[in-house]
Amino acid sequence: MANKEADLGRLEEDWAGALADWAVPERFLTRVPSSPFELSPSSFKPDRARLETPTLRWLAEELSGLPEGRRTLLDVGSGAGGTSLMLWPVAEHITAVDQSSDMLAALRGNAAELGIPSDALTTLNSRWPATEPPSASVAVCANVLYNVASPVAFLRALLEATTHAVVVEITERHPHYGVNPLWLRFHGYQRPTQPSAEAIGAMLRLLGYEPEVAHWERRGAEPDDPEEVARLARRACIPEERWGEVGAYLREQSPAPTEVVAFKVRIR
Ligand SMILES: C[S@@+](CC[C@H](N)C(=O)[O-])C[C@H]1O[C@@H](n2cnc3c(N)ncnc32)[C@H](O)[C@@H]1O
Repeated sequence: MANKEADLGRLEEDWAGALADWAVPERFLTRVPSSPFELSPSSFKPDRARLETPTLRWLAEELSGLPEGRRTLLDVGSGAGGTSLMLWPVAEHITAVDQSSDMLAALRGNAAELGIPSDALTTLNSRWPATEPPSASVAVCANVLYNVASPVAFLRALLEATTHAVVVEITERHPHYGVNPLWLRFHGYQRPTQPSAEAIGAMLRLLGYEPEVAHWERRGAEPDDPEEVARLARRACIPEERWGEVGAYLREQSPAPTEVVAFKVRIR
């Protein structure tokens, strides 16, 4: 037990150290009007294509296997509802937790557009772990952990808040890993490569769970779409006057697909 806690502590320390290396040096930030880490609610809105991912398929299976009245879903780091809202009405009730009130406002708007009744949705504007965490039969946390410096406490709270199953989705590498070649080409600056999703799998195992694991790819950015070029250029702190060059570079060096991993654990 003591060894496991020590191993968890080491994994978490390595995770936090590797995440800190992703901070962008001030000299690049001063050249652009917004933070390269700014998240837009429109990037995380519900999308039918996500229903085909292992994450949503697992969640739908786990929820529909439960008796009526118990098909409740907790979405931690919900953003604008891109993961959980598509699961209504299989999920009879959805609780969305996010530290950003803008994301939750967008989520409520997206829920209304999808016709989700207000009594089927609860939103909680809070950092996770929350002081008074809501609970549910099934929980999901998708595309959040690279924002979290203490993933062990985060995962423990998620597992404790859930009675049946938890699904954690995370890209294989940091969400900005795909723009590392732009940093090198436009700034001559080498960005980090660590941490990776493997550490999250190792943490779940040390916490006493043997996760099912699924791997898939999201298509790379489309170099002929100016919005996608702008999104990548902003992530690499490239000023707007050079976005034409960025598009030309991306047409030559097609952006690689993003590798994604999901872990599913059953609560015993
Ligand atoms: C990249 S978005 C992912 C949104 C959604 N899960 C999806 O996959 O479409 C990450 C979200 O997690 C939220 N977040 C990050 N760390 C959090 C924390 N410790 N507690 C609550 N929300 C958090 C952010 O505000 C953001 O809305």
